Amino acid sequence: MDKLNRPLIDLRISVTDKCNFRCTYCMPREVFGNDFPFMGRDEIMTFEEIDRLAGIFVSLGVEKIRLTGGEPLLRRNLHNLVSMLALRDVEIAMTTNGVLLPRYAPALSAAGLNRVTVSLDAIDEATFAKITDSGHTVASVMAGIEAAESVGLGPIKINTVVKRNSNEEEVLDLIERFSNRDIAIRFIEYMDVGSTNGWSLEDVVSAEEIRQLIGELKPIPSVKKSDVAKRYETAQGDEVGLITSVTEPFCGNCTRARISADGRFYTCLFSSRGLDLLSPIRMGSSDEEIASIIRSHWQEREDRYSEIRSEMSKPSDRIEMSYIGG
Ligand code: GTP
Ligand code: 5AD
Ligand code: SF4
Ligand code: SF4
Repeated sequence: MDKLNRPLIDLRISVTDKCNFRCTYCMPREVFGNDFPFMGRDEIMTFEEIDRLAGIFVSLGVEKIRLTGGEPLLRRNLHNLVSMLALRDVEIAMTTNGVLLPRYAPALSAAGLNRVTVSLDAIDEATFAKITDSGHTVASVMAGIEAAESVGLGPIKINTVVKRNSNEEEVLDLIERFSNRDIAIRFIEYMDVGSTNGWSLEDVVSAEEIRQLIGELKPIPSVKKSDVAKRYETAQGDEVGLITSVTEPFCGNCTRARISADGRFYTCLFSSRGLDLLSPIRMGSSDEEIASIIRSHWQEREDRYSEIRSEMSKPSDRIEMSYIGG
């Protein structure tokens, strides 16, 4: 338990800080251009190192592992990591932008991946192109979703970040596009992660506004206390989730730990520093020693950034979303 009595249950592992998209709110091209210093090969954990850390976290109570990036599918042979993790007693999920799923979904599923969440901010190709700034298309993401579904990587969830004057008009179209399928779409309030996206409170479309856009919504009881999405059913019977990270923070139930691709351990999405776990691993520490480093760091945890956002001055050295994977 941490200082606010929250157990460590979910582990999000970023496997790369690279992405094949340049979403304006996450990796703006002016910052993440050709000369951006992404992590070097030696700085990134090997699959063996990731798996070993995962095993230690599982021994400390972790029940769910989510692979993230950047874009996790840019990491070569990711299915090999999945097959190592699958030997452990955990659920394995992945958050991806979807375009590489047609190529990799079969191998990932065979390796033991349980399900995927696909990020998709628009159905309209022009709007999608403007947001993702990368030459990829909605059609290719849809093909990824189909591919994942056909190999049993469901139930699939869709993540949509709603940003003002960007994609509010997509909300209803997205719901309609996925209507009558076993796919839940979740609308996420735009958060002030990192420091390169020029976040401003005016750009946040609140869950309340999204609710009004959608119209009639019946609440569905949540499955787990730590779930980030509040779930609803539309008049048509489709499931919609709202992730109210800004207007109704959920830090009180936050059981999530994050590890960056270079092996740093973060106790909050808004941390500016992570605890280096890769050095002890490479210097030969035992599992028990590493477990005790993790345990004491978690015991000291008192993060609840989203609940106290308005009282804080914005630190400029905060980690980027593409580094920690949301
Ligand atoms: P499942 O319930 O297993 O599907 O996972 P999830 O909903 O935790 O995963 P997902 O990565 O899809 O989370 C959805 C989004 O919620 C993320 O992309 C973030 O934008 C936001 N989010 C997730 N965890 C946190 C968190 O700890 N803090 C904040 N502020 N936002 C979070
Ligand atoms: N606010 C909210 N969600 C974000 N994501 C990336 N940046 C932000 C932000 N500033 C989302 C992505 C993806 C998930 C990993 O996090 O769209 O769905
Ligand atoms: Fe977009 Fe996700 Fe890539 Fe960020 S990590 S640029 S949100 S696809
Ligand atoms: Fe957890 Fe930090 Fe997000 Fe709060 S702001 S829910 S403590 S990651």
